[in-house]
Amino acid sequence: MEIIICPDGDEVARVAAETVAQVCWRVGPDVVLGVATGSSPLALYRDLAALVSAGKVDLSGASAFALDEYVGLPEGHPESYAEVIRRTVTEPLGLDPARVRVPDGRADDIEEACERYELAIRDAGGVDIQILGIGANGHIGFNEPSSSLSSRTRIKTLTPKTRADNARFFDSLDQVPVHCLTQGLGTILDADEVVLVAQGASKADAVAAMVEGPVSASCPGSILQTHQYATIVVDEAAASKLA
Ligand code: F6R
Repeated sequence: MEIIICPDGDEVARVAAETVAQVCWRVGPDVVLGVATGSSPLALYRDLAALVSAGKVDLSGASAFALDEYVGLPEGHPESYAEVIRRTVTEPLGLDPARVRVPDGRADDIEEACERYELAIRDAGGVDIQILGIGANGHIGFNEPSSSLSSRTRIKTLTPKTRADNARFFDSLDQVPVHCLTQGLGTILDADEVVLVAQGASKADAVAAMVEGPVSASCPGSILQTHQYATIVVDEAAASKLA
C-alpha cells in the first residue's frame, strides 16, 4: 500500500488522475476502469477529463464498471448510480455508454443480476484500475463493516450511518433506499490496481483504520492492505489521525 498525503483536495485529484492516466498509458485505449460514485472522486474525474480533452489520455475504447447501485430507484432517477455515473463519468470522459455498466438495481432476479455483473467484468478481462472512495465507517463500495472479506457482487442493506451520510443527495432520509447492490471486497481486490481518494477530517478515523489498523471486516477498507498495487491519496485533514 502506498500512501500519498497531499496539501489539499486539488492535489489529491491531480495525483490520483495521474495514477489513473499512467494505467491508461500502459494498457492502451481499451483500458477497463472501475468507477466509484460519491463526492470523493469528482475532482479526479474532472482532472482526468481534462487530460482526455488535451489528447493526453485516450479512452476511445475504454470500458467502465460501477461499484454499486441502489435497489429500487426508478429508471432515470437522478440519484440512481446509473445516472450519477452518466453525468460524472461517461459524459465528461467521453466514454461509449454501451461500454459503461452499473449493477442492475431494478432486476426482478437480483441474484442473477449480480452473477451477470461478475461475468461481465470477467468477460471484459477484469478491471485494470479501480477508483475508490471510503465511507466514514470504513466501507468501500457498499461493503459495510462486517462484510465478508472474500465477498462478490451481491445485495446488501445500507447501515443507518451510510443512509444518513447519503441523505444529502435526496430530499429526505426516507427517500434513501435501504438496499443496494455492490461489488464485493473479493471483486474489488481482483482489480489489477486500486487508487482510493479521501478528503476531509470526517474521513480521518476511517483512513487511519484502513492504513494502520488490523485487516478486519470491522473496517472493510483495510482489506486493501493485502492488495499488491493499492495507492491511497489523501489530503492532510484525512491523514490527520495517521501515526
Ligand atoms: C460509491 C461508493 C462509496 C463511496 C463512499 C464515500 O460508489 O461505493 O463507497 O465511495 O461512501 O462517499 P463520498 O465520496 O461521497 O464521501
